[in-house]
Amino acid sequence: MIRFEHVTKRYADGTTAVDDLSFEVAEGEVVTLVGPSGCGKTTTMKMVNRLIEPTAGRILLDGEDVAGVDPVALRRRIGYVIQQVGLFPHRTVLDNTATVPALLGWKKKHARERAAELLDLVGLDPGTYGHRYPEQLSGGQRQRVGVARALAADPPVLLMDEPFGAVDPVVRERLQNEFLNLQATVRKTVLLVTHDLEEAVRLGDRIAVYGQGRIEQYDTPAAVLGAPATAYVADFVGRDRGLKRLAVTPITRQDLEERGKSGPGAPAVPLGAPLKDALSALLLHDADHVAVTDPEQDGRELGVLTAAALHRALRRSVGAGAVSSR
Ligand SMILES: Nc1ncnc2c1ncn2[C@@H]1O[C@H](COP(=O)(O)OP(=O)(O)O)[C@@H](O)[C@H]1O
Ligand SMILES: [Mg+2]
Repeated sequence: MIRFEHVTKRYADGTTAVDDLSFEVAEGEVVTLVGPSGCGKTTTMKMVNRLIEPTAGRILLDGEDVAGVDPVALRRRIGYVIQQVGLFPHRTVLDNTATVPALLGWKKKHARERAAELLDLVGLDPGTYGHRYPEQLSGGQRQRVGVARALAADPPVLLMDEPFGAVDPVVRERLQNEFLNLQATVRKTVLLVTHDLEEAVRLGDRIAVYGQGRIEQYDTPAAVLGAPATAYVADFVGRDRGLKRLAVTPITRQDLEERGKSGPGAPAVPLGAPLKDALSALLLHDADHVAVTDPEQDGRELGVLTAAALHRALRRSVGAGAVSSR
């Protein structure tokens, strides 16, 4: 869906922000770009919607070189969410959300109906919030309006640059969960920039770990945490990467042992939950196994996960490139 081919960006002062970058984002996939400040993430993203032009190489959107597409037309096909949100202060929330449909020439009524639908989708009641102005919202609510606005014209691609960076950790976690739920519904192709590894791991189907102007590793969260490709990546993901990996590795059927071992009152977790939940339950109940239930069958018990099986599952996740965060 989005394909970078040997893309380089050198700014006028000689700074090479992006150096011979090649990677691809599949349709419906969330790819997070993560790395320290100044490593070229924003530059990468802005070349997709031509806010910045590459010095060399090309970027294909659905097979088409974006260099040949009128930037204004291009930006209508690509939703863009930034940390500062960039809402118009003198327009209501509803009109802010309807910005792109209005630009596209939709009838006012239609554009507003669409805006109301989107506000609802991001958890803001249009009756309550639609007529407010941006300054009458909390930071988290403004961020939701930014997301609603980016989605209003139903673009296939969404670019998000540190979208949850300006809110406190509690709100950030809520927004991240909302984003995951929303993405399960709308299935956009998403490129999301963050400097926060935890966020990259939680939200990305795949992660691109940036060094200076280049990608050091491009893989699933479990693979990046489990098998860092370079010393730089190992250092970036940190010594506690094993713990982080517990959070992105789901419990699967193959990890289970026969049911019947667990007694009444034993802790239980649903199949598909992260191994971290199982470990938390083990520690909390001082148990050596947890029951694993089937969320699709009213919580019927499928088997048990022992501490040893948990360890095996964690090792399995390192090799399997296909293990996703969800
Ligand atoms: N307009 C510009 N002119 C010169 N250098 C720039 C410009 N914009 C960004 N840079 C430099 O390019 C590098 C990458 O910046 P950026 O893509 O914004 O990084 P990130 O988003 O990862 O923090 C940095 O060294 C930054 O200072
Ligand atoms: Mg940036």
